[in-house]
Order: sequence, then C-alpha cells, then structure tokens
Amino acid sequence: MIELGVNIDHVATLREARKGRVPDVIAAAKICEMAGAHQITVHLRQDRRHIQDHDVEALKQVLLVRLNLEMGATDEIIAVAHRIRPHSVCLVPEHRQEITTEGGLDVAAQIPRLREVVKGMHDRGIHVSMFIDPEEKQVDASAETGADYVELHTGAYANAEGGKRDSELERLETCAEHVRLTSLKLHAGHGLTVRNLEPVAMIPGLCEVNIGHDIVARALFIGLENAVAEILDILHECSL
Ligand code: PXP
Repeated sequence: MIELGVNIDHVATLREARKGRVPDVIAAAKICEMAGAHQITVHLRQDRRHIQDHDVEALKQVLLVRLNLEMGATDEIIAVAHRIRPHSVCLVPEHRQEITTEGGLDVAAQIPRLREVVKGMHDRGIHVSMFIDPEEKQVDASAETGADYVELHTGAYANAEGGKRDSELERLETCAEHVRLTSLKLHAGHGLTVRNLEPVAMIPGLCEVNIGHDIVARALFIGLENAVAEILDILHECSL
C-alpha cells in the first residue's frame, strides 16, 4: 500500500496566528497517527512561520510512526536535523517570501554540496529525500547525491485544469518510469487533495505521498481523524 505522511504545518499556522498554545500540534500528530497515518511530516522553515524547533523535538519523543522533516539545506537547519535525528529529511528549496514551497530543488546545480549533506545525514542514520520537479535530469542528479528517495512535486498537476492537467499527470508518470530505473524510492506531494489524489496514486512504483493543506482544511469540517481516513481509503483502493 502507498503510505501516507500527514503534513501538520498548518495546525501550527493556526497556533502561530495567536502565538499561543492551541491548536496543539502534538495532539494533532497523535490523532493522525491513531487514524492510520504512516508518518508525520513537518517543515521547519528558516523564518519559523509555523513549526517551531520545540515541535520537532516533542514529535521525535512522542511519535510511534516516522517523523519526516522537510527543510532547506542551510547550515542552521542541518544542525537541528543532526541533533534531533528524524527518521528522514526531505530537502526542499526555500525562499523567504513564498507562500508555500514553490518548485522543486535544483539538485543538478548543486550535486557536490548535496552529496555532503546526504552523507552527513546518513552518518546519523537519517534517510534523505529530494523534493524535485518531475524531470529526468533531477532524478539522475538525486541518485548521484546518494539520496534514498525522490519526492516528485505534484503542485503543477494540482494547479492545472483540463488538458493541461492530463499533460502534467503524464509528466509525473514519465518521470516515475525513470525513477524506477534507479535505486531511488518514489514519493509524491504538494497540492494533493481528496479530489485529485487518485490518478497520482495509480502511478506504478509510488510508495509514499505527503499531504498537508487539504487534510488540515477538511479537518475543520469533518474532523482530523476523518480527513486522514478518507485519504487512506483512496490509497487503499488504488493499491488493490
Ligand atoms: N511535500 C513537500 C516536500 C512540501 O514542501 C509540502 C508543503 O509543505 C507538502 C508535501 C505538502 O503540501 P500540501 O500542504 O499542499 O499538501
């Protein structure tokens, strides 16, 4: 079955709107875990706009499922990852003014540096994923860095409509075929929702999706446990 990482950044976004203690990010993570999520994903941004260092520390202590840390490969955040040692890190590009992660990481442009980052993580038992646009060049570059997984950026697919959506899906499918020729495991994420997930979940070889905004948004109306469960149902159906 394709595994589900629930990104709970936006529970923290709501908390940070008042700089208070609610909603409780750790409680949210435990509800996702109890609903059947295979992993909790958080993005510790340089500007700390949502998830804080103490969230990552607490999650590492209390989770029974895997903790996946999305991060820009800056020295400061690398030091945090080395100290806390999540199960995995997903390296993403990060620009201060962006609303969310826009575009994939240009791995091909920085192979020697990223090879060092991967080695530093591996030395501490941390797995590494590269968040990339669905391009063969970036897949090959990711393999060259020694990364364990690539997460294909599904944002362009999610934002497209009609024929454009079909061609973005084809791009993902073609790139996934290329990933299967490497030793990299295949993940996908960004902009995925209860409505657009199915075609992506049908891509052969896909083993994990990370979904955040849609789950947290739907949780306001149907509850977090139900929002996780309906995504798990789709993943289950697509695995049959
Ligand atoms: N995967 C990665 C690498 C991301 O950066 C994000 C957004 O933080 C997600 C998945 C989740 O995206 P969304 O919130 O749109 O589901």
